[in-house]
Amino acid sequence: MTPAIRTVHWGTGAMGSHALRVAARTPGLAVAGVVSQRSAERAAAALAREAPGAVDSAVAGDDLAEVVARAGGADVVLLATHGHLVDLEAPLAAAFELGLRVVCIGEDAIYPQAVDAELAARLETLAKRRAVAMVGTGANPGYVMDYLPMVLTAVTTGWSSIRVRRASSLAPFGETVLRSMGVGLTPEQFAAAAERGEIDGHVGYDASVAFLAAGLGVSLEIVDNVCEPIVRDRPTELDGHSYPGGVVVGVEQRCRAVAATGQSVILEHPQRLGRLDGEEPLHDLIELDGGDLLRARISPALDGGVATVALMINLIPALMRAEPGIHTIASLPLTPFDAPEARGRVAAANI
Ligand SMILES: NC(=O)c1ccc[n+]([C@@H]2O[C@H](COP(=O)([O-])OP(=O)(O)OC[C@H]3O[C@@H](n4cnc5c(N)ncnc54)[C@H](OP(=O)(O)O)[C@@H]3O)[C@@H](O)[C@H]2O)c1
Repeated sequence: MTPAIRTVHWGTGAMGSHALRVAARTPGLAVAGVVSQRSAERAAAALAREAPGAVDSAVAGDDLAEVVARAGGADVVLLATHGHLVDLEAPLAAAFELGLRVVCIGEDAIYPQAVDAELAARLETLAKRRAVAMVGTGANPGYVMDYLPMVLTAVTTGWSSIRVRRASSLAPFGETVLRSMGVGLTPEQFAAAAERGEIDGHVGYDASVAFLAAGLGVSLEIVDNVCEPIVRDRPTELDGHSYPGGVVVGVEQRCRAVAATGQSVILEHPQRLGRLDGEEPLHDLIELDGGDLLRARISPALDGGVATVALMINLIPALMRAEPGIHTIASLPLTPFDAPEARGRVAAANI
């Protein structure tokens, strides 16, 4: 029988915990370790909470090298901590040095070459030297606003504009994401924080646009990126969070990119906690216009947590066989797990 693929889970926030829970019950995977840079206790608590069946066999700690050594080796690190490449460099390099493959959901990891070509080249060299592969993935960026429209262009004979609207929920995400949206601030605090450069909003536009451009063979330049707060007037209890009236519950963001050859890409992303009657339903909409309009709608919108975790897990078998270096979801075929009981891919409905 094919030995299980041994996973190490780095980051025990919302996404990291969810991925640990799913990995623990995915045939063909064995949880080898959990890493929380903040404390070994956090890692141990996450292991006990999300993967109780692995407590005796897996190792928890605050340092990747130590966890992997104590676990007697591992195959893949599932990295769910930061979004920006500058913060991801050290954990990626640490994993590569240990000869471990990486699935990373940080936004900049979707297409790192576009964020910082020099840093990405350094990581690529190291990954190749240590003969390991990595892939950046996630619902968005990494799927809805880039990979899906890219795939849909295959059934058109040309496109002049691409519009993607993703109206989604912030409920699956943790503090890192909510803080970057200014959730819980008053509109005045939001404006002041934005002025200080503290509101990132959706971090994935640069990555999505660069990934789309590479996939479609055009050169795209972002010409607007507007981020407005979504404020609720009434006090609300949303998705387990309580908010007084008059505070930010999400952001409405819109990015437009144009090509020198005339095509345009518009990426609209309202995301918020909860939904009140009368508000736009959650959905993903992709429109490709090239004379005939192709319109694809996913309703309700992909759950950003479920979809991100499913992608992390489902890309592991392909990553195990991939050529060393930095991959994208477009350069890896979706490959089933070898374990006969794995039933193809993880069913999103079951996670
Ligand atoms: N591509 C996509 O579609 C996609 C989807 C979802 C999330 N993301 C990105 O993935 C990342 C994780 O998301 P999340 O919702 O899980 O966030 P989260 O709940 O805030 O968890 C992030 C975890 O990262 C670690 N961390 C954060 N800041 C740290 C710091 N300054 N020093 C050390 N460790 C730190 C912590 O891990 P420990 O508690 O273990 O110390 C924290 O629990 C975010 O960057 C988010 O933007 C991308």
